[in-house]
Amino acid sequence: MTERKMMKVLEGESVFPPPIWVMRQAGRYLPEYRATRAEAGGFLDLCYNPKLATEVTMQPIRRYGFDAAILFSDILVVPDALGRKVAFQEGEGPVLEPLDLGRVGELDPTGIHDRLAPVYEAVERIRGELPVETTFLGFCGAPWTVATYMIAGRGTSDQGPARKAALGDPEGFARLIDVLVEASIAYLARQIDCGADAVQIFDTWAGVLDETEFETWVIRPAKRIVAGLRAIHPKAKVIGFPKGAQALLERYVEETGVDAVGLDWTMPHAFARERIQPKVAVQGNLDPMRVVVGGRALDEGVDRVLAGLGQGRLIFNLGHGITPEADPANMARLVERVRAAKR
Ligand code: CP3
Repeated sequence: MTERKMMKVLEGESVFPPPIWVMRQAGRYLPEYRATRAEAGGFLDLCYNPKLATEVTMQPIRRYGFDAAILFSDILVVPDALGRKVAFQEGEGPVLEPLDLGRVGELDPTGIHDRLAPVYEAVERIRGELPVETTFLGFCGAPWTVATYMIAGRGTSDQGPARKAALGDPEGFARLIDVLVEASIAYLARQIDCGADAVQIFDTWAGVLDETEFETWVIRPAKRIVAGLRAIHPKAKVIGFPKGAQALLERYVEETGVDAVGLDWTMPHAFARERIQPKVAVQGNLDPMRVVVGGRALDEGVDRVLAGLGQGRLIFNLGHGITPEADPANMARLVERVRAAKR
């Protein structure tokens, strides 16, 4: 295990040059991804096809030799496995049947594994194909972010429908979060059983909540997932990514028990260095737009992340997923620059 550079950082070491992987590294900016996706048919068909999900997970590893692979799937397979209707429409993003909080009692978090069996099969296959030195990450969506899609039935600009539900019917909303906490623990534990080395909890919409709502719907559920997962796998390594948490990130790391946190690209390096890195490893935080623009904008951004965060525990990544318009050649340039860095 120790030869896995990213695991060393999650276990508390500072490594330089830092290990690198990129959120959405398997995705539409890669022509080979677009070809496999077309072969699969729909997006969910790709997520539930163990052979093709393995193929797209491996594509960025073959091309760039990243230090970590992330399971190819989506956070919305959990609501799908809970029996909600989920569809991905080309160019539109996810569409779900909006959930009425009065019907949360119909969701059974213990019944998810049958539908998710192809995902677990993909995890086993991927671990078998990855080089030994490559860390393998499983993941799930955080309850708050998954709930925003379940309630609104789609992505919204301000998560208005879920914020309204959480403030207007906190008991009903808490029951939904409970279901998602329980399902997430079971789902992540199974991914580790099948070969994942560590897991990431994606809370993409954490940044729209006020302090008390952040405590209730972001920190507490993450803490319960970490504790629940460690009750099954005591050494489980967990990366939390409460995007947009800003100064609340400090409480998130103090209270949840995660081993690392993702930083979005708006996070000042001095704050992360002084308040976060002494407690946990950090992961990030290059603006994905710098990979689209390339050239000097890319090089300067890389150098600034390395100078600002490279003295402590760092996993190099972007501040959010790579976008479809990024040039694969810029990604090669990014990896090369990080690997050639000197402290
Ligand atoms: O990082 C990886 O390479 C692993 C795969 C992965 C996907 N989605 C594949 C995907 C991961 C980790 C996710 C997480 C995810 N999914 C999040 C949290 C992280 C984030 O990016 O904020 C969220 C909010 C979702 C929900 C989701 N899935 C949305 C809103 C969309 C549409 C937006 C878009 O980028 O198109 C998706 C679709 C999706 N998930 C794609 C991929 C590669 C693109 C769809 C396609 O190929 O047609």
